Amino acid sequence: MRKNPPKTLEWIGGVDGSLRLIDQTLLPLECRLIDCRSVEDVFEAIRALRVRGAPAIGVAAAYGVVIGLQSETSSGRGAFDRRLDAVCERLAASRPTAVNLFGALERMRRTAAAEPSLPPREMLARLLTEALAIEREDREMCAAIGRHGAELLKDGQGVLTHCNAGGLATAGDGTALSVIFAAAAQGKRLQVYADETRPLLQGARLTTWELIQRDVPVTLICDSMAGWVMKEGRVQSVITGADRIAANGDTANKIGTYSVSLLARAHRIPFYVAAPSSTFDLSLADGSGIPIEQRSPEEITRGLGRQTAPDRVETYNPAFDVTPAALIDAIVTERGLIQPVNSETVRAMLQPS
Ligand code: MRU
Repeated sequence: MRKNPPKTLEWIGGVDGSLRLIDQTLLPLECRLIDCRSVEDVFEAIRALRVRGAPAIGVAAAYGVVIGLQSETSSGRGAFDRRLDAVCERLAASRPTAVNLFGALERMRRTAAAEPSLPPREMLARLLTEALAIEREDREMCAAIGRHGAELLKDGQGVLTHCNAGGLATAGDGTALSVIFAAAAQGKRLQVYADETRPLLQGARLTTWELIQRDVPVTLICDSMAGWVMKEGRVQSVITGADRIAANGDTANKIGTYSVSLLARAHRIPFYVAAPSSTFDLSLADGSGIPIEQRSPEEITRGLGRQTAPDRVETYNPAFDVTPAALIDAIVTERGLIQPVNSETVRAMLQPS
């Protein structure tokens, strides 16, 4: 039976309101809501992955800008605009890979720059309207991604996904999971295989939680089992989300995605990426320029609640990897499918409508 969990993130109140979000670090054991009332609250929530997933990070950052300017409405526009710059700079330093963060901050800056003589209090209201629009558009893009992608999944298929690209990663139903939800809503019987997604277990903790809530059959596997379940013939499609897609279609996503794409190719299983246009970074010709977040050693050595490696062991903990476009069979966007994936087809799909 479908349960109705709280919204992943939402704005509470008017211009002097706050950002309420699910603290995802506590899932699946506890679904606790926290309120962010300062830029530091929002920064910390993004940095610590209380809110995570590329689109959700972008929405949270937009609201963070509003929060950061609430105390800056009594002086003139000069002080307001300087504070806007400082807030954007701070939030931009929270996580480097998901381009939605930078896109949302840029939209907030542009909104302010378009009305340089508007008094601060009215500008703040304008910025809240923009942040709400970013959230609404993300929800709409998720729904459209589901509609376009559902045709890729066939009745009776096993579908493998990595990390969490669901409602917890967006303001809507997700990207990869939106495709799965839409296909399931059409009556297709799917069996999802969720990689646990070490080191932070977004697949085990979050993707399975969402799928169980929505009554979509899901089987949790360790990351190291992906190749074998493919070999056994249990998986006919792979679909993941994305954190940043370069102009040629090279795609950064959660660490381990690259390995899954190689395994899929070796087993002749189609590998799909689902992402809104806000996840594309056309300023980068290919994936080599995508900044890869490096996270702390403790996520690997103590990530399961107890020490699992010797003291002083060296670690390497990149949070993302880049899957080359050549390994991606299609990218599902809110505008339709990019297939095959290359610079020309990406440009054709994303050109301003
Ligand atoms: O480190 P995370 O949990 O923020 O990483 C999330 C992912 O890699 C998702 O797959 C991606 O952001 C797409 S979410 C629609």
